[in-house]
Amino acid sequence: MEDSLSPASITNNLKTHLVGRRVIYYPTLTSTMDVAKREAAGRGAVEGTVVIAGEQTAGKGRINRTWLSSKGSLALSLILYPKVVHLPCLIMLASLAVVHSIEAVTGLKAEVKWPNDVLIDGRKVCGILIENQVVGNTVDYAIIGIGVNVNIRLSDFPEILPIATSLSDELDGDVSLLDITQRLLVEIERLYLALLAGESIYEEWRDRLVTLGREIEVRSGEKVYTGIAESVARDGSLLLRQRDGSLTQIVAGDATLGDYK
Ligand code: BTN
Repeated sequence: MEDSLSPASITNNLKTHLVGRRVIYYPTLTSTMDVAKREAAGRGAVEGTVVIAGEQTAGKGRINRTWLSSKGSLALSLILYPKVVHLPCLIMLASLAVVHSIEAVTGLKAEVKWPNDVLIDGRKVCGILIENQVVGNTVDYAIIGIGVNVNIRLSDFPEILPIATSLSDELDGDVSLLDITQRLLVEIERLYLALLAGESIYEEWRDRLVTLGREIEVRSGEKVYTGIAESVARDGSLLLRQRDGSLTQIVAGDATLGDYK
């Protein structure tokens, strides 16, 4: 199976108008986030520009973590210029788009762990990092970074083996990186256009969360909360029922489910 991408292969027959109308591809790169931010500065890049790397040498994760991004995985950053009101929905959009693409291309069942990890059978297959620049009431840019473990053998990465998986490990065979990439861009565009048309994607995101109703631990900055994940608000924040009965709203954090996956 052809396992490397090119701008031409991605844009050829791509059924989108906005997302992916410009594709910048690097076989090797530090991080697609760095290039996307540079391109987006001053709105220099057309909306929908996608930066893709065959592998990243300094992939960025949430909360200043690193993201392992070797050959065979998908690493992309998408440049959007949404309104401020749409910013909280980008987390929902990205995780739903990943879930839909994985299910469509592989038939595997994927789920979302708050705020925006995508899991298969309790193990992380995709991470999403969103970096926005907002000045006053104007969004300079929003960058959605998505990393999917497509064709990598987790046994080669013992440090993440207990908590991570890949599509090829789940299927015991390789998946077309091109099919996953194109489907992802199509799903992102569909959801983004729905948002711009005033439709809500919150309900679907909420219903796909594997977190709700579960005993969880959430790290948010220096604080650690435990309790039952009761619900999520429309802005994407988590409503956590703590053991003393109080309800805490957590805007950003990292959740561990009760089964410690
Ligand atoms: C996380 O779960 O911590 C988020 C990981 C996000 C990884 C992606 S890969 C493409 C883009 N470029 C990066 O350097 N990071 C994001």
